Amino acid sequence: MEKNILYLDQNATEENRVEDLLNRLTIEEKILLIRGRDFWTTNPIERLKIPSFGMTDGPLGVAWHSSHRGHRTRFPATIGLASTWNKQLAYKMGEAIGKEVKLSGRHQILGPGVNIIRSPLCGRNFEYLSEDPVLSSDIVAEVVKGIQSQKIASCVKHYLTNNSETKRMKISTEISERALQEIYIKNYKRIIEKADPWGIMVCYNKINGIHGAENKYILRDVLRDQLGFTGHVVTDWGAARRTSGATGCIKAGLNLEMPGFFLFKKMTPKNVQKALDAGDINKDDLNYIVRPLLRTFMRVGLFEKTEQHFKKVLDIPEHQKISQQIAEEGMVLLKNDSNFLPLKADKVKKIAILGPNAKKIFGKPLQGGSSAVVPPKFISPYDGIVNYVSGKSEIISNPEDADVVFLILGLNHGGNILRLFLTKREGDTEGRDRTHYALPDKQQKLISETLAKNPNTVVILIAGSPIDLSEWFEDVPAILNAWYPGMMGGDAIARVLFGEINPSGKLPVTYPKKLEDHPAHKSKKRFPGDLEELKIYFDEGIYVGYRYFDKHQVEPFFPFGFGLSYTTFEMSNIQLDKSNLQGQGTFTVSVDVKNIGDKLGAEVVQIYLSDDECSVDRPPKELQGFEKVYLEPGEKKPVSIKLNESALEFYSEQEHKFKAETGTFTIWAGSSSRDLPLSIKINYSA
Ligand code: BGC
Repeated sequence: MEKNILYLDQNATEENRVEDLLNRLTIEEKILLIRGRDFWTTNPIERLKIPSFGMTDGPLGVAWHSSHRGHRTRFPATIGLASTWNKQLAYKMGEAIGKEVKLSGRHQILGPGVNIIRSPLCGRNFEYLSEDPVLSSDIVAEVVKGIQSQKIASCVKHYLTNNSETKRMKISTEISERALQEIYIKNYKRIIEKADPWGIMVCYNKINGIHGAENKYILRDVLRDQLGFTGHVVTDWGAARRTSGATGCIKAGLNLEMPGFFLFKKMTPKNVQKALDAGDINKDDLNYIVRPLLRTFMRVGLFEKTEQHFKKVLDIPEHQKISQQIAEEGMVLLKNDSNFLPLKADKVKKIAILGPNAKKIFGKPLQGGSSAVVPPKFISPYDGIVNYVSGKSEIISNPEDADVVFLILGLNHGGNILRLFLTKREGDTEGRDRTHYALPDKQQKLISETLAKNPNTVVILIAGSPIDLSEWFEDVPAILNAWYPGMMGGDAIARVLFGEINPSGKLPVTYPKKLEDHPAHKSKKRFPGDLEELKIYFDEGIYVGYRYFDKHQVEPFFPFGFGLSYTTFEMSNIQLDKSNLQGQGTFTVSVDVKNIGDKLGAEVVQIYLSDDECSVDRPPKELQGFEKVYLEPGEKKPVSIKLNESALEFYSEQEHKFKAETGTFTIWAGSSSRDLPLSIKINYSA
C-alpha cells in the first residue's frame, strides 16, 4: 500500500482518508461518483484507483438477478426472523449474508428491509419485520452488525413510510410529525444508534408531498442532523426519476442515484454541471453528498486489493443450518387443541400431505420481486415431511385413510414478477398489495372438504403476512404458521410437527378478527389510499398495530407477541435495580422464568411500559425490550433486561424532540402483549 498517499493508507483515520480523497477528486470525477454506471455498480475513477462499488439485492439472502445469476443461501422471510425474537440468530444471518455478498464480488447488500408492517395487506410484509419499531430495530441492528462484520455495507430500506406498494412511485404519505417520529423514524433511530449502518435506501413515495429522494427534512434534518447517520443514501431503483431534478436531490442530501440506466437520469453529469454553472448548487453541496459515499468506500475496504472469488453456486451447510434454525425458531404455533401436536412419527402410520403450497418451490428467479434468492437446493414441506418419516410412516394421497393430514396452504409468493405485472396475480410480492385478508376461496374450500374426510387435519401456513383464519379456525385441531421458511423450510416444518423442535416463535404483528378492526383499514383513504389524489393518510397516527387495539380495547384474533409452545412457562419475581431514575441513565428489569412443563423449550420475556400520567395522549403500553430464554423441563432462570430513559419518551410536537415527563411509569412483563402477569413501578424525574 502506498504510504505517501493518505487515502490509501489504512493506518490513517477514516475521516482523514475521506478528506484527502475528496480534495484530490476533480468536480467531474465527483459528479461521476454520484450516479450509477449500470444496474448494480458505480463508476470507477481510474486516475485515483477508485474501483467500482458493487451492490446486490437482498434482504432474504443474496439475490440471483444481481449476483451474476448466483445460487445463494435462501433465508426465511424476515417477518419470520422477527418472530424468533432471537438477536443472536439475527446476527448470524447477517454474518452469513455478508460472507455471501463477498463471494458474489459485491460490496453492499440492499437490505435489510425494515418498513413498519402497518397493514396485513402490504405486498412486502414478508421482507419487513414488525408493526413495532422496538422489535424491528433490535433484530435489524443485529443483522446489520453481522453483515458489516464482514466489511460489507448494509442498506437499510426503504426510508421512509413505504409501508404499502400500491402506487408506490407516486403516492404521498400524509402523516403527522409525531407519528413519523415516534413510529417510523424511531425504527431507524434505534438501528443507527445500535449498529451504525453504512447505507440507507430512500423510498419511491413522497412524504407529506415531497419525494423521499429530494426531501430535505427526512434526508438532512432528520437523518444527518437528528440521527447522526454517517453512511450514504442511495435511491430506490429509479426513485429520483419523479423528483424535480438534480438540484432538488443534491440540496436534500441524496448521495447516489441508482441505477445508471437511460430511463433514470436526474443526477447525470450534464444535469449536475448545469446546476453548478447556474449556481443552483455549489461545490460545498457536492462535497456534502460525495463525502459519505467515500466513507462507505473506506469502510468496505474498496481500496484494499483483496481478490474477489466469485462462485456461481454457494452450497454452504453452515449457512443452511442458520437458515433452518431461523425457520424453526420463527414458526408460530397458533393453535394446538389438546396437545394435538407434536406427533409421534412411529404412531402415525399413514400421512396425507395436501395443499397448494406443499410442493411449491419458493426461490425462483425474480419471484416475489427484488429479494428473489435462488438457493442451490430447496426442501419443500412435502420433501421435508417425507424425509423425516421415511421408514416409519407411509405417505398416502387419500385423506380419508390417513391418521393425520397436513394441509399446506398460504399465499403465493408472486410468481415471476414480470408475469405478475401482466397477469395481475396477487400474493406477497413487491409492486402490489393484497386485496383480501382471507385465504383464496379455493383454499377455504379445500379446508372444509378435507375436514369432512378427516378431522385430524393440521393446517400449515406458508405466507409472509397475517391471514384471516376466522372462518375455519374452530374446525381444525392445530395450526402452524411457518411464514416463508427458506430453503431448509421442509426439514424445519417436519422437526416442529414431530416435536424435535419445540415452537418458540411469537407474532411480530397483530392479527385482527376482521380487516375493518385494523387501524390501517378504517377507511380506503388510509389503505390503499386515495388513489385519485395519490395520497395515503396515516390517520391512525401513533396508534399502529397493538397500540390501537389496546387503546380502543378492540379484541384481536391474535395479539402481538403471541405464540404457543409444547411446554408451559411461568414468570415470577419482577424486580428493578432502582425505583427512581433521574435524567439520563439506565435501569434493569429482571424476571424469573421457569419451564413448568415436560419439554425443553424457549420463552420470550417481553417488557412493556406505560406512562401513568402524561400531558399528551399515549398508547396504553409499548414494547421496550425482550429476551429469549431456553429452559429444560423444571429449569428456572433469571432474565435481566437493561433499558434507559428513552424507554419513557414520547415525541413532543411542541418541542420537536423526544422527551420523558416527570412521573410514574408501569413496567409490565409477560409472554405477549395481552398476557402480562407481572408489573412494577418506576419513578422518573426529568
Ligand atoms: C425495490 C428495492 C430493490 C431495488 C433494486 C426496487 O424496486 O423496491 O427494494 O432493492 O428495486 O432491485
